[in-house]
Amino acid sequence: MEVFKTIVETKKYIKSQICLGKSVGFVPTMGALHKGHISLIERANAENDLVVASIFVNPTQFGNPEDLVKYPKTLEADCALLKPARCDVVFAPSAEEMYVNLPDLKLNFGHLEHVMEGAFRPDHFNGVGIVVSKLFHIVNPDRAYFGLKDLQQVAILTRLVKDLSFDLELIPCPIIRELDGLAMSSRNTRLSHDARKSASQISIATRKAKDLMIQGGNSLAIKEAIFTHFKAYPEFEMEYLEISDFEQLTPIDRMMEGRKTAICIAAYLDKVRLIDNIVF
Ligand code: PAJ
Repeated sequence: MEVFKTIVETKKYIKSQICLGKSVGFVPTMGALHKGHISLIERANAENDLVVASIFVNPTQFGNPEDLVKYPKTLEADCALLKPARCDVVFAPSAEEMYVNLPDLKLNFGHLEHVMEGAFRPDHFNGVGIVVSKLFHIVNPDRAYFGLKDLQQVAILTRLVKDLSFDLELIPCPIIRELDGLAMSSRNTRLSHDARKSASQISIATRKAKDLMIQGGNSLAIKEAIFTHFKAYPEFEMEYLEISDFEQLTPIDRMMEGRKTAICIAAYLDKVRLIDNIVF
């Protein structure tokens, strides 16, 4: 496994492999890797000749400077997980390598960036869109793999690829969960022992909301039922529960024939922000 810190070395190596006729699968990450990330590497491996992962804690997508400082940086442990998963190249640049100057460029994803995560994390998707565009230019992949854990990120990057004619296929991949249903996340390690025990209520709530929706419930009734559910768990501070059309992320009242529904949730537990969703 090659580990590069500079853009020049990374481009040069990948170009040499593309010249040999190899297809490139790319998994962008911020490190602190877990089985969720590794599932993307495995999928990329099954579908490409060369697998590239990036590890870069992108400062421009953090609204809260404290969150950026607290973000775990564990390159050695990450490489120890990537190698046996048969990742071929790791691109792990410094902030200075990625941004000589912080870009003034602003991307506007319209409605997609104003709902859910976008409403609570202003500028977040601008930062994600710019860094992912830069990474796509550096890596030049045929396929790029993203987890549906960040469903809105998938929707936004799908638009980015289309609107900017990136010559690659964006492949959404399923959420990997702990045994009790908690979606895997680097933030889970920050939960106290007690908080970890109740954390699965997030996925239980999305499944409950799905069942109510399938039984014909409307969005208001479902939101009320879920907020009532969390009254028994006062350790949670709910941020949002949204019931939307899966592709457009527009709010819907009831299930729609032939369209997928997404139920998305964000809540603080033990000062840790958790997100989850269910698509059906
Ligand atoms: P990060 O949070 O490290 O996630 C990297 C990728 O792993 C994302 O596509 C994310 O959706 C996926 N992922 C995380 N947890 C997962 C799980 N439990 N199951 C399946 N996939 C999971 O998302 C980012 O980094 C950044 O915004 C990035 C795209 C790298 C841009 O900086």
